Amino acid sequence: MSHAGGVLFLLIVVSYEVASKVEFTNIVCTSLDKEFSEFEYCYLKSVNRTYKYVSVKSKLYQTPVTKVKVNFSLYKRFNGYRPFMYNITVDACRFLKNPKSNPVTLFFFSSFAEFSNFNHSCPFNGALFLEKLSTEFVNHQATKVLPFPEGDYMIEINWIAYDINRAVIKFYLTLS
Ligand SMILES: *[C@@H]1O[C@H](CO)[C@@H](O)[C@H](O)[C@H]1NC(C)=O
Ligand SMILES: *[C@@H]1O[C@H](CO)[C@@H](O)[C@H](O)[C@H]1NC(C)=O
Ligand SMILES: *[C@@H]1O[C@H](CO)[C@@H](O)[C@H](O)[C@H]1NC(C)=O
Ligand SMILES: *[C@@H]1O[C@H](CO)[C@@H](O)[C@H](O)[C@H]1NC(C)=O
Repeated sequence: MSHAGGVLFLLIVVSYEVASKVEFTNIVCTSLDKEFSEFEYCYLKSVNRTYKYVSVKSKLYQTPVTKVKVNFSLYKRFNGYRPFMYNITVDACRFLKNPKSNPVTLFFFSSFAEFSNFNHSCPFNGALFLEKLSTEFVNHQATKVLPFPEGDYMIEINWIAYDINRAVIKFYLTLS
């Protein structure tokens, strides 16, 4: 797991290893450095009972961005959210430069890349987005894996550019 790549695909990595049913409950995006980047939107939408998705768009103000790390940790809710099993840092540019060097990461990343505009090597310019990543899709992926404890989880993703933490995205989900 130490060499995962991409960002939000990590959500799917977790889902793969998780329960039979995944439900998104919330998403919260915070810019820690508004001169570097800002979120234009960040939301969870329920179209109907079976179709829910998340969309996120972040505008980059200091482009090109050539050095990005993604730091990912999983929390499970007991009394408040506690760290749970995963705590991973990925050099996103290194992975994207040569995805084939890392077949496992590529497998996960490919399953999510179609929802994003960052399926290309660094640098990044303009804006990064993830459009309509659906619960249904994540559930479909999740059927391939081992069961995982049911409960409420939070996935915290730190976006670290040039070794400075610039933004945090928190996904909240329930596994049942
Ligand atoms: C939910 O919305 C999606 C997208 O509009 C649609 O394709 C699907 O049929 C809807 N499902 C139900 C149960 O209404
Ligand atoms: C993740 O690991 C780092 C370095 O080992 C540690 O400083 C940090 O507290 C850990 N975070 C969580 C949520 O476990
Ligand atoms: C992730 O980044 C945060 C903020 O920079 C830091 O507190 C944490 O220790 C980092 N975790 C890992 C695994 O490096
Ligand atoms: C990126 O997109 C291209 C074209 O859509 C596709 O051929 C390629 O497999 C994708 N790469 C990844 C890592 O998803």
